[in-house]
Amino acid sequence: MFISFEGIDGSGKSTQARRLAQALNARGTETLLTREPGGSAGAEEIRRLLVEGGGERWSPETELLLFTAARRDHVERLIRPALERGAWIVTDRFADSSRVYQGLARADLRQLVEELHRLTIGIEPDRTFIIDIDPAVALARGQARGGAEDRFETLGLGFQQKLRAGFLALAAEAPGRIRVIDGRGSEDEVAARVLAALT
Ligand code: ADP
Ligand code: TYD
Repeated sequence: MFISFEGIDGSGKSTQARRLAQALNARGTETLLTREPGGSAGAEEIRRLLVEGGGERWSPETELLLFTAARRDHVERLIRPALERGAWIVTDRFADSSRVYQGLARADLRQLVEELHRLTIGIEPDRTFIIDIDPAVALARGQARGGAEDRFETLGLGFQQKLRAGFLALAAEAPGRIRVIDGRGSEDEVAARVLAALT
């Protein structure tokens, strides 16, 4: 199975992706934990161009091309080979992030996102968990974490609110694939919701 976690910055999705991968490995299912942008050597190099620097460093179109290039490398080098040998993938973000960030919140590029996806990526996760949380709570969690990878967080609370609405709208578009998980409460509580939604 190919599983992705999505949500706004600081929603707790990296924490939950890690926990789910650990739980799956513990029950004997070989599971690779990976992330976007990144996940393969080339994509990790592209990642630095994307997550560091000022909020307006790239135009939305250039940004989308860079994210898509990173995703293509990630799929070619890591995701596809792993799925082909029967391993499971848990990824912290995938194409839904482009649909919402570049397709909706940064600019109105949804059509371009879908066309590039169809032409160059072509696969969708079997299951996607959106960790849903109030942007004010998420922003506080993200800022507590610190570090240099804050280019999107510097775009502010209004931007995060737009993202949240975008993720929820996407879930309504693809109810067969996407499950919305309440991100409030402790890490354990959220992890239990994810496991319940997987089985
Ligand atoms: P994301 O990947 O969505 O940005 P993270 O999983 O990195 O989110 O979490 C952001 C911060 O919030 C981290 O410092 C993490 O330890 C903390 N965190 C994650 N889940 C919870 C939770 N349920 N309650 C409180 N803090 C949390
Ligand atoms: P990430 O490291 O997951 O950030 P965070 O832990 O703060 O959620 O991702 C880096 C940023 O890149 C994040 O703000 C979301 C953004 N992003 C896009 O804009 N488009 C994409 O296609 C992807 C994968 C990420």
